[in-house]
Order: sequence, then C-alpha cells, then structure tokens
Amino acid sequence: HNVPSARNVDIASRTPPYQKLLSRLAEVRRVLGSSRQLTLAEKILYSHLESPEESLLSNTNNGRDIRGQANLKLKPDRVAMQDASAQMALLQFMSCGLPSTAVPASIHCDHMIIGEKGADTDLPQSIKGNKEVFDFLESAAKKYGIEFWPPGAGIIHQSVLENYSAPGLMMLGTDSHSPNAGGLGAIVIGVGGADAVDALVDAPWELKAPKVLGVKLTGELSGWASPKDVILHLAGQLTVRGGTGFIIEYFGPGVQTLSCTGMATICNMGAEVGATTSLFPFSPAHVPYLQVTHRGPIAQAASDIAKLPMDRNLLRPDPEAVYDKVIEINLSNLEPHINGPFTPDLSTPLSKFKSVVEEKDWPRTFGAGLIGSCTNSSYQDMTRSEELVKQASAAGLKPKADFFITPGSEQIRATLERDNTLSTFTAAGGTVLANACGPCIGQWTRTDGVKKGEANAILTSYNRNFPGRNDGNRATMNFLASPELITAMSYSGSTTFNPMTDSIPTPSGESFKFSPPKGSDLPSTGFATGNPDFLPTPGVPDSSVDVIVSPTSTRLALLDPFPAFPDTELGGLRILYKVKGQCTTDTISAAGPWLKYKGHLPNISENTLIGAVNAQTDEVNVAYDIDGKTSGIPELAKRWRDQGIEWLVVAEHNYGEGSAREHAALQPRYLGARIILTKSFARIHETNLKKQGVVPLTFANEEDYDLLEACDEVATRGLLDVLHSGGKGQVELLVKKRNGQEHVIKTKHTLSHDQCGFVLAGSALNLLARKGRE
Ligand code: F3S
Repeated sequence: HNVPSARNVDIASRTPPYQKLLSRLAEVRRVLGSSRQLTLAEKILYSHLESPEESLLSNTNNGRDIRGQANLKLKPDRVAMQDASAQMALLQFMSCGLPSTAVPASIHCDHMIIGEKGADTDLPQSIKGNKEVFDFLESAAKKYGIEFWPPGAGIIHQSVLENYSAPGLMMLGTDSHSPNAGGLGAIVIGVGGADAVDALVDAPWELKAPKVLGVKLTGELSGWASPKDVILHLAGQLTVRGGTGFIIEYFGPGVQTLSCTGMATICNMGAEVGATTSLFPFSPAHVPYLQVTHRGPIAQAASDIAKLPMDRNLLRPDPEAVYDKVIEINLSNLEPHINGPFTPDLSTPLSKFKSVVEEKDWPRTFGAGLIGSCTNSSYQDMTRSEELVKQASAAGLKPKADFFITPGSEQIRATLERDNTLSTFTAAGGTVLANACGPCIGQWTRTDGVKKGEANAILTSYNRNFPGRNDGNRATMNFLASPELITAMSYSGSTTFNPMTDSIPTPSGESFKFSPPKGSDLPSTGFATGNPDFLPTPGVPDSSVDVIVSPTSTRLALLDPFPAFPDTELGGLRILYKVKGQCTTDTISAAGPWLKYKGHLPNISENTLIGAVNAQTDEVNVAYDIDGKTSGIPELAKRWRDQGIEWLVVAEHNYGEGSAREHAALQPRYLGARIILTKSFARIHETNLKKQGVVPLTFANEEDYDLLEACDEVATRGLLDVLHSGGKGQVELLVKKRNGQEHVIKTKHTLSHDQCGFVLAGSALNLLARKGRE
C-alpha cells in the first residue's frame, strides 16, 4: 500500500506500553509457573494487572482456578467515551479535582446526531439541538487533555479502530460495542461512566476474571459469505446470554484469511451474546491496516513482539492453551445469514430464509436497507456493496427499498468519496447519512409513510435489533445481515429474494442475476483525511480553559460531592418502597426520553424507580408517605430528603440487573438512599452502589422480606464496625413498625476493604479526591 504522508499523529501516546507489558507478562509467568499455558486473553489481561501476585493468587486455589474466581485489579492503557455516556463520566471525573486524566482518553460525538435527510442537513441541525452538551464536552476535553472528536468526525468504534486500538492494548470504552477494537488484537471492554473514571484517575479497575471461550476458525470465506456472517451464525449458536462471563477468543488457521476490519465486525457483535469482550490474535492483516492508518511504527513494534519465543510472546496464545469451551466454524462452509426480528440470536441461513418468512408470516417486502454504522462501514464492506450497485445500475435497475449509507468515520467517508464509491451509491438513489449513529440509535424519522404500530420490515447491517431501536416503532422488524446482502436485496425490495439464486427482471425485459462481490480490504492509495475540522483536538491539558456548564441548564449540572458517612450508626431511616419482583437498571433509571438528562442528576432523578411495582399494593410508582398520602416514588424521596429523613429500599432477587448504568446508583444516593436491602443483587449494580456510598445488604433469611413494609423505621447495628474494620462482621437492622412491633433483621454484605473506604468517604470519588490532595 502507498502510505500517504503521515497525518500529525501522536504515535507515542497511541503505542501500547509494550516494554512494561512484556515485563508484567514475565511476572505473571513467575507467579503462575512457567509451564502454565495461557490464552491470549489471559496474557493481555493479566499483563495489565496492578499486582499480578495479589490478583492471581488470592481466592484462586493458589493460582489454579483464576477464571471465574479471581478479582482482577486492572490498569487499562486508555479510555474512549461517546457523547451520551461521557457526560456523567466527566462530571464525576471533575469532582475529583485532578488537573488531567491519568491515561490518554478520547471523546466521540456520535450518538446525538440524527440520520434522516442526509449529512448536510442533519449534522447542523443536531449540533444546534445539542450545542450545550457538545460545548461542555469540548471544553472539558481541552481542560483535562482528552482528544475531542467533534460531531461529524465519526462513530466511536470506527474512530477507535482507525486511531487507538493496537495489538496488546487494554482499554475501557463507555459503550457496549467497544469490543469492536478486538479486531486489532486489543482487549477493550464496554463499561459505565463510573468505571471509566477509575481508569481516568489511575485507580485500579476491578473485574471478575472472565472465562475464555475459544472459537476455532478454519477454511476461508468465499462468494457472498462475509465476516458479518461469522458472528450472525455464532449468535444463533450461543444465544443472547451464551457469552456472559466469557471473553471470546478467536484462533485457528481461518484467522489469517480475514481482513482486520472484518475481524472488528465479528468482535463488535460479541456484545450481542453478552461476552465481556472478543479479540483476535496478531494477524498478517493487522500490519497493512496499521500502516495505512498512519501507525507504521506500531505495526513494526507489534510484528517484533509477535515473533518472540512463546514464553515472552504477548500477542499470541500459548500452543497448549486451554479454553473453557470451544466452538469450531469452517469458513469455507459458511452461508450468509439473516438474524431477527427483534433479537440478534434468531439466526437463519439465507437458503432457508424464504421459507421461514412464509412460515412465520413475516412481511414479504421491506421498506429500507441501511448499511454502514460502527459495525459494517469498512472499505471492504463498502466496496463490496459498491460492486453490486454497479452491476445493478449497468442492468438499468434502481433499489426498490430506500437505501441509506452510514460511513463510520470522516476518514472512511472521504476515502469513499475520493474513490467514487459514494457517488455510485447516490447515483443509484442512496442517501449518505452523517458519520454518526443516526438510525442505529433511534435518531431516524422515517419519511416512507410507515405509521407507528404498523408491522413492517427493514434490513440493516447494524448490530442490534430490539423493538423500537431504529425508528421508535416497536412493530418494525429489523433483520440484521451483511451490507452486501442488504444492498443486493434492496434491488428486489423483497425479504424472500435470495441474490445467490434468484434473478430480477430488468426494464428492458431481460433477467438480471448478481455475481458474488469481491471488493478491496483497503484503499490502494491510502485513506483520505477528509474535512480537517473533523480531526480531534490534541490531548494536551490546558488549565486555563473553563468548563462550560450554564447554571440554568436543564441538561447539565455539576455534581456536588456526597457527604461522608456519619461517625455513628444510622438511625431514623425509613423504608421508602418495598419492590416486588424484577427490578432492572431500567426500572431504577428509565431510558428513552430521559436520556437527554444523563448529564443532569437532579432532572434525571425524577425517573427514579418509576418502573417499580409496589409489593404491598401492586401499583407501579405509587409510594405511601407516613401519613398515608400517595405520590410518585421520586416525589416522596425528595420530600423525605428535604425533611432530613434518609431511606432504604427493600427488594427481591437480582436487583439492578441489566446494565452498568451508574445513574441507577447515583440517583437513589442523590435522593437520600443509605441502604438497599434485597434478596440478591446483580453484581455490577451492587458494586456501583458501593461506589456511590450506598450500602447494599442482603437478607440472611430471605423470608424476613415478608416482615417489612413501607415507612417502617430502621436503625443499623454493627455497620460502623464493619466499615471501620474493612468489611469484617455483619450488620443487623432494628426495625420498628408503626403498630409498635419490633424485629431484628440479620443481613449479609460483600463490602471489601476498599469499598468500606468508599462508603465512609461518601463515595469512591470522594476517596479518590482526598487521596489526590494528600
Ligand atoms: Fe452507534 Fe449503533 Fe454503533 S448506536 S456506536 S452505531 S451500535
């Protein structure tokens, strides 16, 4: 490849700290014994431990049972944040009072941009509508030395792949598809903002050591089959929960046949099976990709490491590494797949799709084909699609379905424009949307007359297809497929059309059949830079910059630190609400229209627990005050807070399941919660509560749940001792009911030494801020 003159890229900050990682790997070998065979995921992850000895030997049967057991304290190399989740991450980071981030970080403005009429109209409109949020993010980025990618620059995962991901890197991203970067041999994990802040302030980030699922690839893709089909097929095998607690590690001879961007597509959608992350080993395709994206020195450094003898080789798994589970896929036999509707694991091979459509009575036509996004907008994807458009155009055909193209970054957009790919799409009637999430995250107002509630189909090369995700219409069936399949099918507009076997009549009365697309992995003349306004600001802190937050803003509010824990046991607490049944992070902090308040804790707190079922009355979001007066849950919480009454919530099993959303812990804390008492917690949410200074307790005897009612008065016994002893001992709750009855409720807790410190300081951030000042 002709590599264009290097853009002004700060190679040093983008190169993983290889020497440090190699010496950490040697330490890991020393701790575990030199005969221990490691998977690639383990090598990269454990080389990022703050102290391999502490993490790998405690709680693991002396290092024998690490996976699923060890509590890893990790030091990621870098952080990336998208605009929606960056707001609360930055507000929390700011409250630590540090002058700059401890590791390099980037912000990508992509989620808040609509996709509707085309980039030229949509982008200015979105910037206007979200100006105060973008101004805040940009000013905070400049102050703290974070690279800021403005609206229009690209989608976080595409920009990360093109600029930051590298073999052996470990990174946190505040978005669930961050594992996209694993296509370039990195471990990148999607997290909530509070976790990102751990890395930004140089505190260790904790993770239960994942198990490792090995996917062995053999053979080679050909014809219509694409990398997308690998993950569509795998999602069908694993289902949406099958990857939970696992890192998916690809290996085998088939890896060498895939393009770097194809591997990224496969890793991106590992999120759909619940995997912690996905990654590929160092592969020959990584070298030209790094070179053509202006990172030749990183390609050289990684190539050198990949040649080291196995005991020092950070970028390949040991030959006898053992996986917890292995799935084999022969790429030579893989058919294109179509997944959906409504769930990404409902996977159907193309050859069977027609009969399934007929059997299930799914719509026979589809209104729109949407290609691109963070998942599938590579040069390879787009040139394969372009070839099909050229074939159809030469036969005089136009797409029957609306055809939308979302480039993943300005770099890929400008390159496709230079190479006339985009003009081929637009000449055929396609609409090129902004380099942003757009229709993938519901920022899409359809103009094709489909009414809300009307059943209809669309085809997308995106990664998720939950109801309502794209156009807000829960009856829209989104089928996921490769961009090339969607492009070809858009010419028939029919869900039962199979371009491998079927023909389309042309205007001149002939019959047209597509030939399988080929495309190019990378542009032979290198990538174009595109609009220089879309390049990031440099990651150099500037303390003279003022962070812009208007005191009258309804969307952003600076955070006041939470007060420290009192020097006494808690008394006079009241039960705010007794929740019945499932209580997810969505129940605690609803999404949808509330998303625009993600940076404004007082405003978003108005949604606290509004989905929760009252165990005593079966009502949803109806809380009872001490005098029997009813109101919504947030109203009662606020009233009590203003009267100085602190409170607790009582709930059943798996409280806080769903996501890492820190708002579900921040909001109750802001409104006056001290304790959440449940039959059990979802692990991530339980940690989030502790980070925000709320004490999570579980019933020692589950049946005690039945003894409790809203407004019961509660005092703690033993909590102060537990907190001061770093987690030793148990807590009892003394409950006084309104009829005068009293109960002593025994509880259990999982507070570690560090987490006791969080609660005593008022929050993890308070503790970090204090340490920073010391
Ligand atoms: Fe954006 Fe959709 Fe990807 S929301 S980050 S394009 S999954």
